[in-house]
Amino acid sequence: MSATPLRIVVLLSGHGSNLQAILDAIAKQELDADILAVISDKSDAYGLQRAQQQRIPTQCLETRDYPTREAFDNALQHAIDALDPDFIVLAGFMRILTSGFVDHFNGKLLNIHPSLLPKYRGLNTHRRVLEAGDQEHGVTVHFVTADLDSGPIIAQEKIAVRADDTIASLKQRIHELEHTLYPKVLQQLAKAKNLDI
Ligand code: GRF
Repeated sequence: MSATPLRIVVLLSGHGSNLQAILDAIAKQELDADILAVISDKSDAYGLQRAQQQRIPTQCLETRDYPTREAFDNALQHAIDALDPDFIVLAGFMRILTSGFVDHFNGKLLNIHPSLLPKYRGLNTHRRVLEAGDQEHGVTVHFVTADLDSGPIIAQEKIAVRADDTIASLKQRIHELEHTLYPKVLQQLAKAKNLDI
């Protein structure tokens, strides 16, 4: 029996370099996944264009069209449910999700965060690493729970902070790490799906 690809939906708000890394891994057959759709809360997110270039369906739900956070998350939940994914991959999706949404997709929501969680939840992680004088920095892929950047950790990778590192250099090196780690984690999940574990 041939393997069944992992069914994923990607949520993003911006540049979408992590989406691109996932697309590239699929193209190189390093990742056995189908991207069912890319959904954004920003119509000008460059990640939407990356998806369209690969003929992947896109959807945009604009915050201003929904009176409350719950209304937005309800609409997003319905859009995702209609696609029936195995996992929902947050890749720079810049929203705090409601607990109803997170509970509904419990165990299916993945996020990538540019720090060695539990250190530096939230924004400006590179600046905070430099200010603290940390010797190491890194990336975390984790399950999403109702508390920001606090869900169970799936995988982490580290880099050593160099004496001449800046916010920009850390940002670039951390992005490079993200671009290998996220597809690798997804491929592990794809393998597990086919082993039925
Ligand atoms: C990444 O740094 C990721 O860790 C964070 O948002 C950023 C998204 O970058 N959650 P991109 O849009 O994939 O380039």
